Amino acid sequence: MAQTLSTLAYLVASVLFILALRGLSNPETSRQGNLFGMVGMAIAIVATLLKPGMGAGGIVIVLAGLAIGGTIGTVLAQRIQMTSLPQLVAAFHSLVGMAAVFVAAAAFYSPESFGIGTVGNIKGASLVEMSLGLAIGAITFSGSVIAFAKLDGRMSGSPIIFKGQHMLNAALGALLLVLVIAFVITGSPVLFWLIALLSFALGFLLIIPIGGADMPVVVSMLNSYSGWAAAGIGFTIGNLLLIVTGALVGASGAILSYIMCKGMNRSIINVLLGGFGGDSGAAAGPGAGTADRAPVKAGSPEDAAYIMKNAQKIIIVPGYGMAVAQAQQVVREMADLLKKEGAEISYAIHPVAGRMPGHMNVLLAEANVPYDEVHELEEINAEFADADVAYVIGANDVTNPAAKTDKSSAIYGMPILDVERAKTVFFVKRGMASGYAGVENELFFRPNTMMLFGDAKKVTQQIVQSLQK
Ligand code: TAP
Repeated sequence: MAQTLSTLAYLVASVLFILALRGLSNPETSRQGNLFGMVGMAIAIVATLLKPGMGAGGIVIVLAGLAIGGTIGTVLAQRIQMTSLPQLVAAFHSLVGMAAVFVAAAAFYSPESFGIGTVGNIKGASLVEMSLGLAIGAITFSGSVIAFAKLDGRMSGSPIIFKGQHMLNAALGALLLVLVIAFVITGSPVLFWLIALLSFALGFLLIIPIGGADMPVVVSMLNSYSGWAAAGIGFTIGNLLLIVTGALVGASGAILSYIMCKGMNRSIINVLLGGFGGDSGAAAGPGAGTADRAPVKAGSPEDAAYIMKNAQKIIIVPGYGMAVAQAQQVVREMADLLKKEGAEISYAIHPVAGRMPGHMNVLLAEANVPYDEVHELEEINAEFADADVAYVIGANDVTNPAAKTDKSSAIYGMPILDVERAKTVFFVKRGMASGYAGVENELFFRPNTMMLFGDAKKVTQQIVQSLQK
């Protein structure tokens, strides 16, 4: 009876997780989606605590884990800046990977506890699931640690490339497969730990060649790996919820990676094999294609306000700098004033603008920007040709035409927002620095560009003041 109830509760939790994912796919339903996820997780925890055979000791351990992990999670969530979320997510993925390694070790050394055999005599199928969970978990752990270090600036974001890298990765991958087969046949503890070690090394080697601009896809891929690791471990310990949740995370992460690969014009196979970005990233540098530069034209917020007041069609292009400056609210105020002047306002969102998927959508929703004014790259790109003004606020890489023209650039092949086709392009940023990918943007030197140097929020506030005069 208790077992049936717990299975039923797990089923309800699984359905809530699916509803959560569905809700999160749209800004309008995302809060509700989050709520479904929280309720599902609460049900899952209670059902786990009430599981038959849990015992007082088990309950104490789970509650202690919840208290420690929950406290750390709450403090981190309260302190973290939204711009640092990608590295936090990468760090959390590393914990999921490590948890999978620990659970695999627990199941290997105490198979009786999980009903999968006895020490030295574990079922073949369980050994397969265990070794897969172990290998994917270990790869996720070390890969995520490197992703965290790169995103957090603790390690250079440039690709680390050496001769024969792909061959080495392929050889280690093949060796891993041989070790897994040998482990399933023999159940040897030495092979168990060799699989772990080799997988840790592979995770490290797969992520070091990834360059800055390609990190978003990698983080989402590691997210997917962490899900598959959890699902593998779910099979080993016969936990339905872990299998369902792991598969959900694995599949949704894989779909997101695929969408982002399409957005970045990268091959998903290359991401899976860990080599992409490596061929082109190293050669990226300032100056590519910008030999005949015109001088930079800088303007004042008052100039910008005057030009925008007389514009019919304005496209706002937000990027990472808007997030840093927390300028979304004042951007909406500016848009409201310009609408009163008769201008048509739209927002152009690049799939990797900012530092996490959907970053700009979240910020604009926070500022109550109407959803129908917010457009994805492919919907709006053709509109720049008819626009009087492109107001680029804290965005850089996502507008850089080097992605179309400079084969040696780290961002070559990435689709970009064609802001340069607007009559006037304003770039609101503090100086001439390049963006995340470290590639100079030749648009700053174009005759139809006016740089508005300063903090995104301050500059936009000054424009608002001028518009109100
Ligand atoms: P970036 O190319 O990174 O450019 C942001 C610009 O904002 C910088 O050039 C910076 O110039 C400016 N800035 C910073 N603080 C500012 C402030 N307070 N006020 C005004 N400007 C400020 O941003 P993007 O165009 O959004 O492109 C995103 C990049 O991040 C892509 O390369 C993408 O691959 C990468 N990335 C994305 C993600 C996801 S999932 N979205 C995750 C990780 C990495 P100044 O210093 O001159 O002000």
